[in-house]
Amino acid sequence: MTIKVAIACDHGGVALKNYLKQQITNVEWVDLGANGTESVDYPDYGYKIADAVAGGQAQLGVAICGSGIGISIACNRNKAIRAALCTDTTMARLTREHNDANIVCLGARLTGDVLAKEIVETFIKTEFEGGRHVTRVEKLTK
Ligand code: RB5
Repeated sequence: MTIKVAIACDHGGVALKNYLKQQITNVEWVDLGANGTESVDYPDYGYKIADAVAGGQAQLGVAICGSGIGISIACNRNKAIRAALCTDTTMARLTREHNDANIVCLGARLTGDVLAKEIVETFIKTEFEGGRHVTRVEKLTK
């Protein structure tokens, strides 16, 4: 079954969001905006994607702002979300294996398109390892 992946960004991430949707075609994208160059507030899109993933509208999420920092803070306000700002593919793999992260965050002004694509592909294909990590991840939700 095709995995559903939510994607959201502020104005700083629109071009990268479009690039990722165009390049990664083996997932079903749930696009939550933004879509224009008009300035918007990253918390609005962080809360939106957090609600979508927490509510089961998508299994995983990709959240983008200029640095990736603001939207990751917003996503992590939701107790059901483990959002990880990743700047390389090792971070993307480890945050799935160890943290069972459900949203990957990207800084569109800091991470190039091709690397961002590889980060997202790694994030989506990597499974949670379980085992010793289960108790630790459960503590994050309490
Ligand atoms: C928007 O200018 C910028 O502040 C935002 O995209 C993000 O980098 C915040 O963390």
